[in-house]
Amino acid sequence: MSELSSSAASGHAIETLQIEKRRYPPSPDFTKQANARPEIYGRAFDQFWSDESKRVTFFEPWTELYEWKPPYAKWYIGGKLNVCYNCVDRHVEHGLKDKVAYFWEGEPENDRRQITFGELQKDVVRLANALKKLGVKKGTHVGIYMGMIPELPAAMLACTRIGAPFTVVFGGFSAEALAGRMNDMQCELLITQDEGWRRGNRVPLKANADAAMQESPTVTRCLVVRRTGGDVAWTQGRDVWAHDVLKDVSDDPKECPCEPMDSEDLLYLLYTSGTTAKPKGIVHTTAGYLVGVATTHHYIFDVKPKSVYWCAADIGWVTGHSYIVFGPLANGTTGIVYEGTPDFPEKDRWWEIVERYKPDILYTAPTTIRTHMKWGPEYAEKHDLSSLRVLGTVGEPINPEAWVWYREHIGANRTPVVDTWWQTETGMILITPLPGITTLKPGSATKPFPTVDAAVYNEKGNEVPPGGGGYLVIRKPWPAMLRGVYGDPERYQQTYWDRWKDTYFVGDGARIDEDGDFWLLGRVDDVMNVSGHRISTIEVESALVSHPAVAEAAVAGRNDAQTGQAIVAFVTLKGGKEGSPQMLKDLRDHVGRVIGKFAAPANIVFTPELPKTRSGKIMRRLLRDVSENRPLGDTTTLADPAVVAEIAKRGKEEAAKEEA
Ligand code: WTA
Repeated sequence: MSELSSSAASGHAIETLQIEKRRYPPSPDFTKQANARPEIYGRAFDQFWSDESKRVTFFEPWTELYEWKPPYAKWYIGGKLNVCYNCVDRHVEHGLKDKVAYFWEGEPENDRRQITFGELQKDVVRLANALKKLGVKKGTHVGIYMGMIPELPAAMLACTRIGAPFTVVFGGFSAEALAGRMNDMQCELLITQDEGWRRGNRVPLKANADAAMQESPTVTRCLVVRRTGGDVAWTQGRDVWAHDVLKDVSDDPKECPCEPMDSEDLLYLLYTSGTTAKPKGIVHTTAGYLVGVATTHHYIFDVKPKSVYWCAADIGWVTGHSYIVFGPLANGTTGIVYEGTPDFPEKDRWWEIVERYKPDILYTAPTTIRTHMKWGPEYAEKHDLSSLRVLGTVGEPINPEAWVWYREHIGANRTPVVDTWWQTETGMILITPLPGITTLKPGSATKPFPTVDAAVYNEKGNEVPPGGGGYLVIRKPWPAMLRGVYGDPERYQQTYWDRWKDTYFVGDGARIDEDGDFWLLGRVDDVMNVSGHRISTIEVESALVSHPAVAEAAVAGRNDAQTGQAIVAFVTLKGGKEGSPQMLKDLRDHVGRVIGKFAAPANIVFTPELPKTRSGKIMRRLLRDVSENRPLGDTTTLADPAVVAEIAKRGKEEAAKEEA
């Protein structure tokens, strides 16, 4: 484990803490109507999660609230339920058939669909029947590789209806990344689409899927949704068009009942970067996850029956799983799903969407807010955003300037902004303001959600007093917590539980201020956060060294005004070769092919040698200093200090190029 990273220790968040004096108490009008009441913080742990479980319909009631045998938790033991039933069928049964579940907006202009809960039920039933026809049963593992089209949530729900655990792989991932995940989970069927739209370009999802399936022997069937109508290669006997199978199957829910699942049955895996090259399959199960996301969604976003809620994340990341699909649908909320980028065809696309559908809640990432900030407020000013009542952010620390800009220019200086901290592993938001109660501070995620026992520890595992920085930990279980790392109990134990007994090690630095408010300080391990995407330094390094010209590579994150962090790679070429602009391009493309374009380094510094300790460990801390243009820290353990001087020189040249 590395030290609290120097960027976290000297970086933005702490300086901000010292100067950030702005306070935003809730308005009395908001407080009057808020879902959360101040008493919420006083509710006892067991009572809280017992009461909140009533948001979910169980076919058979649970008998024991939870069991905690560290590091494994079980929740709502003995219960039987179905996630699809909770997200779709029961709303139809309760008279919400004609309520809109999703307003869907395609990227091409005038490409829209409105899907009611009744229609969603039919879509899901047909899709579930199609999956069954292709051999999917309870317990069959399914991969999903799609863009933001209505068939994506429908596919996830169809799997849960049958009891087939799935993994969604973000459409920006490469074929290789997709194959790795499907192999790890042993998926038998893949659901994908011909192509996706992104900024007017076609994303070749089926072509990537074809390449992935070459390397994924367990996948024998591929269900393909037609989106763009572009030409795609076809493997007879394996590939099936969705529109062909869907023609012949029933949409009657009675003919495809929701499979009763155990509270602790596997719901899905979501792969996330850790500190090794191999992503971890984070395990989420059924009842605790659903109660956790429904409850947090209700209180944190102050969702009302009439709300129109827009979470602008991609469903391929955990934010989309928990807060586009499962939380909102469990609560019967009307959502917006947008397929494309914020600047297509113009930079006001988002605000046009807000004006059209009039959401009262908008949830997005700091990096997107900073992008809008860079483009300027005039794009938002062209549109009527007065429907907005609550704004949220997630994914990385938000700098106070972006927070204040968001509130002023998008929220008319009136809406609360909830900065929500959580992870793929936590499944649900754990540190967050509650609108109507919390006095907001730009840059702070404020308080642990009721019952969440968060603290900041020093190296020794003692609590750090207010004002000091340290490691964020969680000391009690919570319903949506991960149940393990798929197929790797040792890694689960080691990554999250070995540091301090029975205490969840988050991997983020944090400090708590005098008021008990939490300030997140970024990762403390070798994980970078680029535009809210977790990318491991080692994953990028191993992608680089898999290129035939590369001898060695080391990767570090540097601060970036827009993307939070940007990736800097230090590369030594084979045979003492010098780098060239062509090589730079080749290597970036190569990383794009191995992981995905979003993981391609922003800068590459070619260097004859990397700084290593005498035992041969690459000193990433020094490289971080170089990439940040900071004075170099301690170099005494270096095998050859001259190497660093050379790298620093080359790093500066690279930075100068960047500015030019
Ligand atoms: C970071 C995304 C500061 C953090 C839901 C965490 C944040 C990682 C915040 C998880 C926030 C997320 N403030 N940092 N509000 N939210 N993070 O798994 O470093 O993609 O560990 O889950 O993002 O990223 P993940």
